[in-house]
Amino acid sequence: MNTETRAAVRIDVETGTRSSAIWIGEGIAEQLPSLLDGHGIGKRRFIVSSPVIWRLHGQQLQHVGNGGEPILIPDGERFKNLQSVSRIYESLIRAGADRGSAIVAVGGGVIGDTAGFAAATYLRGISLAHVPTTLLAQVDSSIGGKVGVNHALGKNMIGAFHQPAVVAIDPLLLKTLPRREFRSGLYEVVKYGMIASRELFDRVARHTKEIFAKDPDMLLPAIVESCRIKAKVVSEDERESGPRRILNFGHTVGHALEAVTRYRRYRHGEAIALGMLAAADLGVARGALAERERQALAQLIAQLGPLPTVSDLGTDEVLEAIRRDKKVVNGRLHFVLAIEIGATMTVDDVTEDELRGVLKRLGLR
Ligand SMILES: NC(=O)c1ccc[n+]([C@@H]2O[C@H](COP(=O)([O-])OP(=O)(O)OC[C@H]3O[C@@H](n4cnc5c(N)ncnc54)[C@H](O)[C@@H]3O)[C@@H](O)[C@H]2O)c1
Ligand SMILES: [Zn+2]
Repeated sequence: MNTETRAAVRIDVETGTRSSAIWIGEGIAEQLPSLLDGHGIGKRRFIVSSPVIWRLHGQQLQHVGNGGEPILIPDGERFKNLQSVSRIYESLIRAGADRGSAIVAVGGGVIGDTAGFAAATYLRGISLAHVPTTLLAQVDSSIGGKVGVNHALGKNMIGAFHQPAVVAIDPLLLKTLPRREFRSGLYEVVKYGMIASRELFDRVARHTKEIFAKDPDMLLPAIVESCRIKAKVVSEDERESGPRRILNFGHTVGHALEAVTRYRRYRHGEAIALGMLAAADLGVARGALAERERQALAQLIAQLGPLPTVSDLGTDEVLEAIRRDKKVVNGRLHFVLAIEIGATMTVDDVTEDELRGVLKRLGLR
């Protein structure tokens, strides 16, 4: 056992508005009260979680909240809405939460985004700490300060930027995570490899089995490296005016697949895996990416497990969803292409015909 990798790692996100400290280590969630004390945050701490997560992990995290009973909202994408936010406000107001209070979000991306939006808006903003409990939340959604909820007419339509003061990433919390959810997060790890680190990509490819077994010697460094990449990108560009767009690799087609299947068929990472295959194919078609690099990606994605089908989806509806996406700015679609494993470029001249070809080759109707 390597003790070096077991010590907590700290990564800072520095944006214009504030800085966040990301702490990663086994058992770190239990140390949260002292971490928050150390950062001078929230004399009263209100936990927001879901009944499922709290049943699994509440006992060990009970001591983190001192604002009374945890505020439990149902999780699942369809509860990521203003009604859940309103329930959080209600509990905070009834308990007399003030500007010195903090929200501690314990859960996956749904809980983090919803509780984070409540923290961004309650009394014009109170402190926020994240304790992410899915791999996706540990490597992605808890970092970067994007918070928000869905509207009946569109996903993530309501939101804010609100940097968490502290993110406590504890891989031990993943022990109870269903395999499919774990895999969904792993595709985002592969994405970080694709955009910024061949070494990370290779590590996931070589040690897939150990990572699925949650062997800390393999899983922990993969989480740390992913967080480093995201933290660096976000520090350079908090509000996604330029560099942060590379995080959208695979997300143009991925988001469209999620939208046309109403967020029911794919876990987020699964849609992104398909989106990465599409982006790699486009890269090859444009001569920007070598075919063997595309094959390495396809091979790794296949090795991680099965993906839900695309074969019944129509190219036209997916193209329509791409057009409606937020990545279209002033009528131009910003598309992130891989030029090799570990490096990207952004283009804004992708035509519908090119996209149609890519979607057909991905297996759509
Ligand atoms: N803010 C951002 O930057 C950002 C980035 C990416 C994704 N997101 C958002 O994140 C959400 C998806 O997040 P997610 O994939 O974490 O899904 P999720 O929050 O829906 O969690 C997935 C499932 O796992 C269960 N679960 C969570 N932790 C568990 C644990 N430790 N053990 C057992 N079960 C557990 C939950 O109950 C839930 O059923 C989407 O709404 C997406 O929009 C936000
Ligand atoms: Zn994503």
